[in-house]
Amino acid sequence: MPARLFLSSGDLVADRRFDFARDLQLKGDLVAAADLLLQATELAPRFASAWFTLGEIRQQLGERDAAIAAFQAAREADPEDRHGASLHLMLLGAERLSSMPQAYVRALFDQYAPKFEAALVDDLDYRGPALLFKAVLTARNAVRKPAFFKHALDLGCGTGLAAAAFAREVDHFIGIDLSPRMIEKARLTGLYEQLEVADMLHGLRGRPDASADLVIAADAMVYVADLLPVLQEVRRVLVGRGLLAFTLETHRGEGVILGEGLRYAHGAAYVRRSIEDAGLALSLLENSSARNEDNTPGPGLLVVAATR
Ligand SMILES: C[S@@+](CC[C@H](N)C(=O)[O-])C[C@H]1O[C@@H](n2cnc3c(N)ncnc32)[C@H](O)[C@@H]1O
Repeated sequence: MPARLFLSSGDLVADRRFDFARDLQLKGDLVAAADLLLQATELAPRFASAWFTLGEIRQQLGERDAAIAAFQAAREADPEDRHGASLHLMLLGAERLSSMPQAYVRALFDQYAPKFEAALVDDLDYRGPALLFKAVLTARNAVRKPAFFKHALDLGCGTGLAAAAFAREVDHFIGIDLSPRMIEKARLTGLYEQLEVADMLHGLRGRPDASADLVIAADAMVYVADLLPVLQEVRRVLVGRGLLAFTLETHRGEGVILGEGLRYAHGAAYVRRSIEDAGLALSLLENSSARNEDNTPGPGLLVVAATR
């Protein structure tokens, strides 16, 4: 896990109360920790980290209404919502499902970047890039076309693990990612001709029509609630008979939900419909998991779609 985000209140005493509260929280004394956090917020009413932690503790204590109030205060104190209080409000059913705060994703992966590969590959047995690679080869074989691509886009490229898997089959890679620190790591690989710090939808919108023959997104669409706008842009930037391959987390029900791991899970029917509505043709949709949760593969989907 990345280091926990801490935004100082600017008040030394309030910050110290917060530190004590965290110690107590980690030792399991949740009631005393909540009390100290309340003191900290009395000293510094716009102390987002204290409100957010208080929200988590109230949630752990089963105090739903108080947890909601604390998460709302955290977001008011930090409207960018770097802690992701809105995600907890969604999980608590206090708000409708909506997109992830970009500042939250950026802060999360900026903190994650130094140990990302070890954490994902070693601890979670991450296999997203290998799954995409195999699926793209299969899709190309099925239409008797070689699996070589001139221009590929890597959405949510992270440190570049997916580009590494495709390196021999792609002439020019462009990577797009919200996190500057992840992009710094990707730059060090030397695999990308161009790297852009941007939300994938905005990054795609800046690209010319029919300018890529492959688009991949390994373990990145799990941070996107509504797939349709991204898929529509992908269709526009792909050449005819271009390919899109991505991994998702999924659930048995309808539509999109936010999972306990704070990533979206997209239902299979929703994915089919979105691909169709975007004007793409589905080549492959199979149950396949890109990473483990608690040492077991979580429910996932592997998706390949093509332009007509
Ligand atoms: C779990 S990592 C996967 C990275 C890489 N694709 C890989 O396979 O190792 C998810 C990445 O997606 C990026 N990301 C999440 N939401 C994004 C968005 N809306 N636009 C661009 N990048 C995003 C994150 O910053 C992070 O680097």
